[in-house]
Amino acid sequence: MTPGARREVLGTDQPGSQPPVREVDPAASVGEEGEEVSLRPRALQEFVGQGQLTEHLQIVLDAARRRRQPVDHMLFAGPPGLGKTSLAGIVATEMGVGLRITSGPVLVRTGDLAALLTDLHEGDVLFIDEIHRLHRAVEEVLYPAMEDFKLDILIGKGPTARSIRLDLPRFTLVGATTRTGLVTGPLRDRFGFVGRLDLYGVDDLHEIVERSAGILGVPIDAEGARRIAERSRGTPRIANRLLRRVRDYVEVRAEGRITGETAVAGLDVFGVDELGLDKVDRAILDALCRRFAGHPVGLTTLAQCIGEEPDTIEDAYEPYLLQQGLLRRTPRGRVASSRAYHHLGLPPADGTLP
Ligand SMILES: Nc1ncnc2c1ncn2[C@@H]1O[C@H](COP(=O)(O)OP(=O)(O)O)[C@@H](O)[C@H]1O
Ligand SMILES: [Mg+2]
Repeated sequence: MTPGARREVLGTDQPGSQPPVREVDPAASVGEEGEEVSLRPRALQEFVGQGQLTEHLQIVLDAARRRRQPVDHMLFAGPPGLGKTSLAGIVATEMGVGLRITSGPVLVRTGDLAALLTDLHEGDVLFIDEIHRLHRAVEEVLYPAMEDFKLDILIGKGPTARSIRLDLPRFTLVGATTRTGLVTGPLRDRFGFVGRLDLYGVDDLHEIVERSAGILGVPIDAEGARRIAERSRGTPRIANRLLRRVRDYVEVRAEGRITGETAVAGLDVFGVDELGLDKVDRAILDALCRRFAGHPVGLTTLAQCIGEEPDTIEDAYEPYLLQQGLLRRTPRGRVASSRAYHHLGLPPADGTLP
């Protein structure tokens, strides 16, 4: 098998089709990683929230199915944990085709991508996670592949080298990125569908927590699900993680039942506050409020100060802090809002924005 690739062939419901074959990493089928897989929505119907995106996606998929054609290439963008990988799987399942999974940084040489492409079957979905991190040369192989289903390969070296053009099966490329701004123009233009995922509202997260608790067989009441949803930073992956931590807590301390009260007690034990902020979120706000005393701070400086990568701060932490109005981006740098000072129990610095 090609490095970095994982084969998943999903059967269709049509009579006479192949039985579903799924080859996944055996290590992933046990423990929490295995649970993560079982919590993944498999069909569009199971995918909670993102109403407009899923509606558009449903139309695009239905239309392609009617025409009996592979669906157009798609790009999903949004912060980590919002469902991009899940959607790639859903596209393959809904179309009844195979799914191959890889990611931008693992495709080091053009040959890695060429090997993957030539191994695809008609209609297959090729999922490239973190597509903004593709190496330039590898990305260029993708252009003719996406546009004309052709692969140009160079044979030999030096003056005798020649290029040959291979036909590829018609496939669907699904790309995922944490930021569309980092995907180059030529690549972005080759996607027929670009879907942006936004942070989830509490109602949607509430539904996700109840769905996951059902799958995991954890007894939970509406109040308990609500408390977890409120502290999940708008992110389903975090909702599922908090659900597991609270499950641990109630199993040990509260006879295994998640209620409003036991959920809050469990979340407090694990250091998740009422806004869902974790240690890193609080470190960011603390640095802005205390260490820099309200002065605007550049991303790199902020990252160094709290020992995180600038990309991680920008992709994974800032969206929620911005959405909650705790942090502001100004032309001169990041500043904390008065709500942040209030949340940390500090008096606002002079000139703090509301
Ligand atoms: N819309 C959704 N409905 C239900 N569960 C979801 C949804 N989106 C994400 N999840 C859950 O969150 C987890 C992380 O989603 P994933 O697709 O891996 O996110 P991403 O690829 O964007 O980082 C999934 O395993 C799934 O359990
Ligand atoms: Mg993912």
